[in-house]
Amino acid sequence: MNQITVKTVHCTNKVDEKTITQLLPEVKAAKKHLLNGDGAGNDFLGWVNLPEEIDGEMLNRLKADVARLKGKSQLMVVIGIGGSYLGARMVIEALQSEFAAIERNGNPYIIYAGHTLGEDYYSQLLQLLDHEDYSVTVISKSGTTTEPAVAFRIVKAHLEKKYGKEEAKKRIIAITDARKGALHEIAVQEGYPMYVIPDNVGGRFSVLTPVGLLPIAMAGFDIDRLLQGARDMRKVCIEKETLEENPAMMYAAVRNALYRNGIKVEMMVSCQPNLRYLAEWWKQLYGESEGKEHKGLLPHSISITTDLHSMGQYVQDGERLMMETMIRVKSPATHVPVPTDEQNLDGINYLVGKSLTEINDCAAEGTIEAHVSGGVPVVEIETERIDEYTLGQLIYFFEFACGVSGYTLGVNPFDQPGVEAYKRNMFRLLGKPGF
Ligand code: PA5
Repeated sequence: MNQITVKTVHCTNKVDEKTITQLLPEVKAAKKHLLNGDGAGNDFLGWVNLPEEIDGEMLNRLKADVARLKGKSQLMVVIGIGGSYLGARMVIEALQSEFAAIERNGNPYIIYAGHTLGEDYYSQLLQLLDHEDYSVTVISKSGTTTEPAVAFRIVKAHLEKKYGKEEAKKRIIAITDARKGALHEIAVQEGYPMYVIPDNVGGRFSVLTPVGLLPIAMAGFDIDRLLQGARDMRKVCIEKETLEENPAMMYAAVRNALYRNGIKVEMMVSCQPNLRYLAEWWKQLYGESEGKEHKGLLPHSISITTDLHSMGQYVQDGERLMMETMIRVKSPATHVPVPTDEQNLDGINYLVGKSLTEINDCAAEGTIEAHVSGGVPVVEIETERIDEYTLGQLIYFFEFACGVSGYTLGVNPFDQPGVEAYKRNMFRLLGKPGF
């Protein structure tokens, strides 16, 4: 079983090993609250056992729906925002080719809507949908979120015009609450196939429910392997009691130790572009879970080496408020060596024969050295490779660590009261009745 390793050796410029270890009793207590279900927000702990308890019948029905829609869709429009789309997008972007939109490998290409209100986005989307066969998955736990509701109304109207009402019904899947919300009502009335987001699983912890599984399967990836990775990581997170053996406890301990010692910002650093949505998903997971009561590390992200040419100066030399969490992938799926050139006009013959991974690894090592010497503590999270199995591990690892870390910080990691403020103002400005 492959495992995730959390290395804290580059944090000693800010906290020593003893300071991290001193958090063990608190981290253990936080984990106990999570497992006993007696901490704040305990009605949203369904994700803890989700990989073990996933309903096999639901999975079979989901796979059958995916097979049916694959046969008639070049595109699948996934409508959702926040936790209702970031998890699926993270996995799909990590696994598909960077050029999947052009290559079209035989599986429907996933495009996203409902995550923005940008008008040009929708006019361009509708133009594209005019000449592509497509289906729609609409996802909203509450079933009342404005952005996906507007997107669904626009796309549904297009779908019905293009295929007729009856065929449109066969091309729509709804993922929502079991009993309530406008989306639930619409799905029941129209007779769309429906999947349920369990009551006790919050949006940002929902990637291993149909919310993530359906789009991921539609894009052609193996959801059984994803779930297996999560199951195996769950075992580690639950059973192991020391920081050395339990990567989630270690990560929760080190980020809390750094926070208590003045760090305000945590930057996720990925070394390959296909992990950019891992960072986006992680930002929501940690930002919404911990950013409350004027507490919590601000999650931010950079990609190297790309952003070393934009953010590198600040990280090296600007205000000293950040730590970095670098995702290291030991064995990438492919190798591209640097070819030889007799003339060597570009002066890079010293790289001949080296793979891009070797070069990128040296860039990562060089970055760690530079940033540590500039006063930025660096945590490394290492995974063997990126595939469905390891992504399942990473998902469960980050979720479990988030619960433990939030309780250690002293907040309820499972609510998001702050998200409502902009909505109330927007509704008032738009003249929604009652606001
Ligand atoms: O994590 C969360 O709870 C939020 O980010 C939600 O996922 C997001 O606001 C979308 O909500 P809904 O799925 O109810 O449309």
